[in-house]
Amino acid sequence: MYDFAADMTDCANAVETALDHRLAVARLSGPGPAAERLVAAMRHGSLAGGKRLRPLLLRQAAALFAIPPAQSLAAGLAVEMVHCYSLIHDDLPAMDDDDLRRGRPTVHKAYDDATAILAGDALLTHAFGLLADPQCHPDPAVRIALVAELVAGSGAGGMVGGQMRDIEGEQGGFSGDDISTMQAMKTGALIRASVRVGAILGGADARALSVLTAYAEAAGRAFQLADDLLDVTATSQAMGKATGKDAGMGKQTLVAQLGVDAARERLNQIVGEALSALRTFGPRADGLRSTVRYFAAREH
Ligand code: IPE
Ligand code: IPE
Ligand code: MG
Ligand code: MG
Ligand code: MG
Repeated sequence: MYDFAADMTDCANAVETALDHRLAVARLSGPGPAAERLVAAMRHGSLAGGKRLRPLLLRQAAALFAIPPAQSLAAGLAVEMVHCYSLIHDDLPAMDDDDLRRGRPTVHKAYDDATAILAGDALLTHAFGLLADPQCHPDPAVRIALVAELVAGSGAGGMVGGQMRDIEGEQGGFSGDDISTMQAMKTGALIRASVRVGAILGGADARALSVLTAYAEAAGRAFQLADDLLDVTATSQAMGKATGKDAGMGKQTLVAQLGVDAARERLNQIVGEALSALRTFGPRADGLRSTVRYFAAREH
């Protein structure tokens, strides 16, 4: 029987240990030694407290093709580093202006704005180095495909573009479709890339990749809708970050548009869409099924 709690804990521990190992001055040095303050800020922004859900999705997708967790870990670290960088920048005063993240001061609070910007930049850059390294996959053609996937998920047509739309949305006037596009990009694109990277590592054929992409797109929508609901319904203590801020900042969310009850109904419907995308997979996709259920039911 598949045990979701054990899978999630095992993945989080593996990610934590590997990040701790890699984010060290000696391992980050290039033509010159990595600056200690920068490495400390990178560690602050990525170690301790993250749920590590993107590496979990990645390894669950890879596991469908019998790839053991240790073989998908490097790629999992890459998506987690991009995620952590996105949070460090998302919290900056010029963006959401948040002081608390994962129960601790945000990177710009613990250090300063410039250091937080650079720590994000360095995590982002390092992520692509991880995918390019032969340790990630022996076949260079596969590694190039992974890089292209993470580019699509994180760049102007993905996460960064979605963050731009999120800021533009603060001026108001977003339709339901505009909100969905923004969410599919700012949060959905990296979730989509995580699943697809896992599938590509496993050598998925076009058919399996398209089924898993449909799952991931629904899972991404579910994830951000749950985050927007939790902003209204959860405490800052439980979330480890400020809550109750989105409405005041003019953030365009389905919760603001539909209200809490209808948004929760929509969330359940989206989870159903993610589950039905997986119907051809049978019990071996139980990990991915549990994860999208968790996205909707989570309390932090
Ligand atoms: C928070 O992501 C940011 C969003 C995309 C909504 P997570 O809830 O996965 O954050 P951590 O990594 O567990 O802190
Ligand atoms: C963040 O969305 C999406 C990112 C790409 C970082 P939010 O701004 O809602 O995330 P939180 O609530 O700060 O974690
Ligand atoms: Mg934001
Ligand atoms: Mg934010
Ligand atoms: Mg939020």
